[in-house]
Amino acid sequence: MIPEHFIQELLNRVDIVDVIDAAVPLKKAGANHVACCPFHNEKSPSFTVSPSKQFYHCFGCGAHGTAIGFLMEYQGLTFVEAIEDLAKRVGVQVPKEERNTPKAERPAPSLYELMQQAATYYRAALKKSQTAITYLKGRGLSGEIAARFQMGYAPEGLQNLREVFPQYEQEALSTLGLTIKNEEGRVYDRFRERVMFPIHDQRGNVIGFGGRVMAGDKNDGPKYLNSPETPLFQKGQELYGLFLARQAIRAANKVVVVEGYMDVVALAQHGVEYAVATLGTATTPQHITKLMRQTDDIVFCFDGDAAGKKAAWRAAMNALPALNDSLKLSFLFLPSEHDPDSYVREFGREKFELELAGAMPLSAYILQELSVRNELDSHEGRARFLDDAKPILQQLQAPKLNLMLRKRVAELAGVTQAEVESLLKLQAPTNQPKAQAKAPRRAPTTLMRKLLQLLFIQPPLALQLDAARLPNNNAEYEVLVKIMQLVTTDRLIRPAAIVENLEGVVAQQLLEDLTSEWMRWEEDEEFDVTEEFAGVLSQLLAAESKQSMSALLAKPFAALTAEEKELLRSYRQKPVLETK
Ligand code: GTP
Ligand code: MN
Repeated sequence: MIPEHFIQELLNRVDIVDVIDAAVPLKKAGANHVACCPFHNEKSPSFTVSPSKQFYHCFGCGAHGTAIGFLMEYQGLTFVEAIEDLAKRVGVQVPKEERNTPKAERPAPSLYELMQQAATYYRAALKKSQTAITYLKGRGLSGEIAARFQMGYAPEGLQNLREVFPQYEQEALSTLGLTIKNEEGRVYDRFRERVMFPIHDQRGNVIGFGGRVMAGDKNDGPKYLNSPETPLFQKGQELYGLFLARQAIRAANKVVVVEGYMDVVALAQHGVEYAVATLGTATTPQHITKLMRQTDDIVFCFDGDAAGKKAAWRAAMNALPALNDSLKLSFLFLPSEHDPDSYVREFGREKFELELAGAMPLSAYILQELSVRNELDSHEGRARFLDDAKPILQQLQAPKLNLMLRKRVAELAGVTQAEVESLLKLQAPTNQPKAQAKAPRRAPTTLMRKLLQLLFIQPPLALQLDAARLPNNNAEYEVLVKIMQLVTTDRLIRPAAIVENLEGVVAQQLLEDLTSEWMRWEEDEEFDVTEEFAGVLSQLLAAESKQSMSALLAKPFAALTAEEKELLRSYRQKPVLETK
């Protein structure tokens, strides 16, 4: 937790005028500074920043808050990020108070260290193994590329890792999948005589390995041996090469998803650095969501064989729930004897990138696949075609694309769009462009959204709220009251139970927006829900009390009710920024 006194000091040291002026150029107007409001559309400036109050207020839309609130609203930062941003501006370190509740589920950092030690050992072993070096050279890889991917080698021998880990029998090593215990209780190395590909998480920690045998058939075991699922490594979440490819993905504004470790490495060797691989599993919706955060152009390029085609179809189906209309998904099918590795080695980068540019869009792929599977020149075939299309249209989340696909499906089946919809029991497409959600919203509403998003992650936090002190002129307020009721009266504490109870009660779009941040936050190990909640709440309360205080001060004192006078007194006594 960041200590409260630090936040107060920080707010004393920064000048809100500088903070806002850097983002929204301000003009001096009397004692205040003004600009056209960044939170709503306007022609004449009603957005006012007060240096004496260290507060901003928009007379047009009601947005208001401190420098912290501004960064959270305007730049979409979390509370902790906003504090860190301000601290950096004045050149101070953010102190951390000891948490009172340590996060139990967080894996001990030493597990990461053990993985790193193993990776370092394998790397050193590669340098010593002429056979392994020759193998990699034979596959067209340079020393630089092997170093960039931190490739290594697990030599032959049963207990090589004993050299690295004197406590070789320790539980942690088998938990991490580095060692295996056999039935007699004997412990030995999982990876032996294999070229090693370390798998990194998005922060660059080694969380797993893939190991490839070098000689084709003489060797025992599978061609590739992967780390098992461990506390650090979940295959359905991770993508090989993402950590290294991030910059290239941003630069190219594109990512290529391939099947194999070797494909990623070979593409990088030929200058295509924006490739990642699934780890011997199907592409999951989590994979897609993860990639969507880096780019909105995803090309799947799987092997040209039957297995690759199957994988492409599964990827397409798994992508449906994660899609939106601004995402471009496409599929590149290589000649059946090729995979990306062999293709780029034979034809080079330029040809490969040309193929990428001409990859088949998702909708075309779906329609092609469905038409191939069913004969469209018979009634029966067209009926089956409609059956196959049904689950796809039901799951495809991008409204515009969905609409177009419906039209085309209807055409191909020789019926009308309305007939397709009623036959397949489809709801009319929502036609609610998601882009709406991107437009900056009025400030308190956005903070309310953040508060609700956090409540959905940890519903019992609702017990700390006093609804009467929160702004109630927004759609979120209603949801908030419902959640409080579910938690306090119905004693529900599981997020899923809350969502279930709100389905159909509140607008679907709003519910989606409010639960959409789940995954992002759950993935972020640094993200502390309780701390963030306290921070957002303090900002909301500060803005509210300041707002009501100005409203009360604007009235003649005599016109105030006894209750209002009491309220005014309480605001004056309390510092504006107080947490609970
Ligand atoms: P190379 O033969 O080295 O070119 O491998 P590749 O990258 O072309 O691999 P392939 O297309 O055969 O397989 C794609 C991916 O599936 C690999 O990168 C592995 O993640 C996984 N895989 C392949 N073979 C095996 C196996 O025998 N066992 C397991 N668990 N995974 C495998
Ligand atoms: Mn291959």
